[in-house]
Amino acid sequence: MITPKSSLDSAHKLLEHSILHHAGEPVGTLAALDPALVAPNYAECFIRDFVPSALVFLMEGKTEIVVNFLRMVLDLRVQQPIILGHERAQGLMPASFRIPNDGEEEDMPSADFGDRAIGRVAPVDSALWWTLLLRAYVNTTGDIKLAHSHEFQEGLRLNLQLYLKENFETSPALLVPDASFMIDRRMGVHGHPLEIQALFYGMLFTTLELLLPGPDNDHLLAMCKKRLQTLRSYVRIYYWLDAERLNEIHRYQSEEFGHDVTNVLNIYPESIPDWIDGWLPKDAGYLLGNLGPSRIDFRFFSFGNLLSILFGLTTSAQAEQIMCLFESRWDQLIGEMPVKICYPAVEGDEWSYTTGSDPKNRPWSYHNGGHWPCLLWAFTGAAIRTGRRDLAKRAVTIAAARLEQDDWPEYYDGKKGSLIGRRANLRQVWSAASLIISHHLLENGSALAGFESFTIRDETPQSASSLRAEKLLQDGGTVNLMMPRERKTG
Ligand code: GLC
Repeated sequence: MITPKSSLDSAHKLLEHSILHHAGEPVGTLAALDPALVAPNYAECFIRDFVPSALVFLMEGKTEIVVNFLRMVLDLRVQQPIILGHERAQGLMPASFRIPNDGEEEDMPSADFGDRAIGRVAPVDSALWWTLLLRAYVNTTGDIKLAHSHEFQEGLRLNLQLYLKENFETSPALLVPDASFMIDRRMGVHGHPLEIQALFYGMLFTTLELLLPGPDNDHLLAMCKKRLQTLRSYVRIYYWLDAERLNEIHRYQSEEFGHDVTNVLNIYPESIPDWIDGWLPKDAGYLLGNLGPSRIDFRFFSFGNLLSILFGLTTSAQAEQIMCLFESRWDQLIGEMPVKICYPAVEGDEWSYTTGSDPKNRPWSYHNGGHWPCLLWAFTGAAIRTGRRDLAKRAVTIAAARLEQDDWPEYYDGKKGSLIGRRANLRQVWSAASLIISHHLLENGSALAGFESFTIRDETPQSASSLRAEKLLQDGGTVNLMMPRERKTG
C-alpha cells in the first residue's frame, strides 16, 4: 500500500467532518475546514469541489449524500438572481450553496451564482459537473429511475437548452467568460478554454445517454449529437500540439482570406512563445489551453488535458502522448506536489495584463503555475486509463508523503510546488478526497471499475493527422475546414 494508513485515516476524518446536513440529511461537503479561512465562502459546498467527495462516497457505498446533493442543486436553480433587463438562464446551476444555522428544515439553503464570489464570476462549469456526477451516480447504483424522473429529465433538458443556445459562436467549442470554471479569477481563460470543452463534451455525451427521446427532446438530441461529433473532431484536430503541428504553425501563412485556407484563425507564427521551443519532447503532445482569432494559448493546463483523456475527447494515441509529456517534464508538472495547474506561469507585464495584477495569482502561485493536490484523482485515473500505473504510483507516493503532515493544503507555490501556498487554506476537503480516490484506484479493483463507468470511453481510433486528411477529402477543399457549416439557401 503506497498511501500510509495514517494519511488515509486523516483524510477520511476530514471528509467526514466536512459533511453538511439539511433537515437531518447529508447534502454536501464544505470546501475547507480551516478555522482561519481565507474567504468566507470556503464554508460553503461548491458544486465542483463536491465531485471528488462524491466519488469517494460512491466508491465506498455511501450513495445517499450524492443523490441528496443532486436533488438539492436542481432545486436551488430557482434562486438565481436576475440582472435587471435580463431573463433567467434556466439551466444555470449555482457555484456553491450554504446551509444557514443548524440546517433546520425551515432554514432554506442559500445558493450563490457568482454574486458572492470574488470578481462576480459566472459558474459555467457547475451544470456540466452536475450532469457528469449524475452519470457516475446512475452507473454506480443502477438507479436509472432517478435520471428518468420528471424532475431530472427537465433538468437535463434545461441544461442542454442553455448550453446549446446560440450566442456569438464561430466554432463548435463553447464560448465562455474569463474565470468561469475551476480557475475562477481572471487568468486570460476567456473564450474557448480547454477545461470547459472537456466538461462540455462529457455533458453532451451523458445527456445523449440519459435524456429520453420524445417530441420535446428529439430536436435537441439531434443537435446534441451533431455538436458532440463536431466538437470532438475540432478539439482533436485544432487543439492538438505536437512537434509536427508546431512546425506547421511555425511556417503558417497569415492574412489569408476566404473559406479555402489553412490558417483559418489567422495565427501569426510570431505569437509562438519562446519557451515552447525545446520544451515539447518529440514523442509527446498536449491539447492547447485555448483557441481564438489570432490567438493560441500555448500554456499547458493539466486538468483540461486529464479530463479530455478521462472523457474520451482525445484519441488513445493523444492520451498516451499527454502522459508521456508528464513523464518527460515530471519536475515541472509534478515536482514536489502533484499536479501543476498550468505551465508556465505568466510573469512581468504579461502577468499584469493577464491577471489584472492579481497578487494571489503571482507567478508560480495559486492558479498561475501553482500545484493543486485536488487534481491528483484525475491524474491517477488518466494514468491508469493509458496503462501508466507507474506514473500514478509515483505521483501518489509524493502526495501521500506530504499532505497529511502539511494538514491538507489547498495548493502549493513555487516552480516545483515545494512551498505551501501563501494564502492557501489548510484542511481543504478536495485535497483529502483526491488522495482517497487515488488510493482506491490503485488498490481496489471494484472502485476502479466504478470509476471507469464514471469516465467515458469514446474510442474513435483516428489520429489527429488522419482526421485532418479525412476532413480535407470530405470538404473537397471548398468548405471552411475549421468550422463545419451547413449552407442554407432560399
Ligand atoms: C477557489 C478555487 C475554486 C474552488 C474554490 C473552493 O476559488 O479556484 O476552483 O472551487 O476555491 O475550493
